[in-house]
Amino acid sequence: MLVYQEKTQIKAELDLRKAKGQVIGFVPTMGALHQGHLALVKQALISNDTVVVSIFVNPTQFNNASDLEKYPRTFDSDIALLESLNEDRIMVYTPSVDDIYEGNLRSQKFDFDGLEREMEGKYRPGHFDGVATVVKRFFEIVNPDNAYFGEKDFQQLAIIKQMVKKYDIPVTIIGCKIHRESDGLAMSSRNARLTSEQRNAAPLIYTVLKKAKQEFASKSANELVKWVEEQFKGHGILELEYFIIADEKSLRPIRNKTGKRRYRAFIAVYADDIRLIDNIALN
Ligand code: PAJ
Repeated sequence: MLVYQEKTQIKAELDLRKAKGQVIGFVPTMGALHQGHLALVKQALISNDTVVVSIFVNPTQFNNASDLEKYPRTFDSDIALLESLNEDRIMVYTPSVDDIYEGNLRSQKFDFDGLEREMEGKYRPGHFDGVATVVKRFFEIVNPDNAYFGEKDFQQLAIIKQMVKKYDIPVTIIGCKIHRESDGLAMSSRNARLTSEQRNAAPLIYTVLKKAKQEFASKSANELVKWVEEQFKGHGILELEYFIIADEKSLRPIRNKTGKRRYRAFIAVYADDIRLIDNIALN
C-alpha cells in the first residue's frame, strides 16, 4: 500500500494508472478510521481498480477550535487498519494543510440552494463551506471516477451531490449505509473520546430513532419531536441539540406528511463537548 504526502506525487502516479485505463475510486476521510470508514473502502474496492483514501483533518470545516484540537489523530493505527485489508490497490493520501490550502487557509463560499442552511449548517456555521472547499480540492487533485460518502453524514452527502451537479464535476457520488456498533451506536471517530459512562448512554440516540421510525405512520411529526425531546429532558449525560423530521430531498423540517415524499429523522446530541449525529429513513 502506497502512502503519499504531496499532491504532485500522487497525481503523477494516478495519471499513469488512468493512462492505462484504470477506474479510480476515492474515499475522503479525516482519519481515526473505524469499520464504518473501512466499509466505504471495501465498497470502493469492488468497482474500482485503484482506491485513494485521503486522511486529512480539514481545519476549515471546524466551527469550534477546541473540536479541531481534540479531534482524534491516530495515523499509525489508521495505516494498520488499511493494511489489514491486504490490498495493494489502495493509495493513501495524507497531505499537509499547506499541500491542500497553499498558504490560503480559507473556505470558498457556496450556495447549495438552501441545503447548506438546514440542521448541521444552522448549528455549525461555515461547516459546509469548509467541507465543500476541501472535497472540491480533493476532486481536482485525485480526479476520481467514483467517490464514496457515508449516509452517517446524510446532509454532507446531499451537499456533495449538489456540488458535483452545480459545478459539473465528472465524478459519480455513491452513498453508503450507516455502519453501527452492535448496540446500535453509529460508528464515529468521536466515539473514541466518550467516557465509559457516556458510551453506555449513547445507544439511546439510535433507540429513539428506531422508535420514531416505528411510530412515524401513526403519529404527527410534532408529536414525535416532543416525544424525543422528553427522552433527553434532564438526562444528565446526553444533551439533545436537535431532533428534526425532514424531507429527504430538500432537508427542510416538515410539519405535515404527504403520501408521496420520503422523510428522514436527524438528530444531534452532545455528551459533554462531544457531538454525535445520526439519522434514519422513516418511510
Ligand atoms: P469523516 O468523518 O472521517 O468521514 C469520512 C467518511 O466516512 C464520510 O463520508 C462519512 O459519512 C463516512 N462515515 C463515517 N462514519 C460512518 C459510519 N458509521 N457509517 C458509514 N459511513 C461513515 O466526513 C468527513 O470525514 C469529512 O467531512 C470529509 C468528507 C473527509 C471532508 O473533510
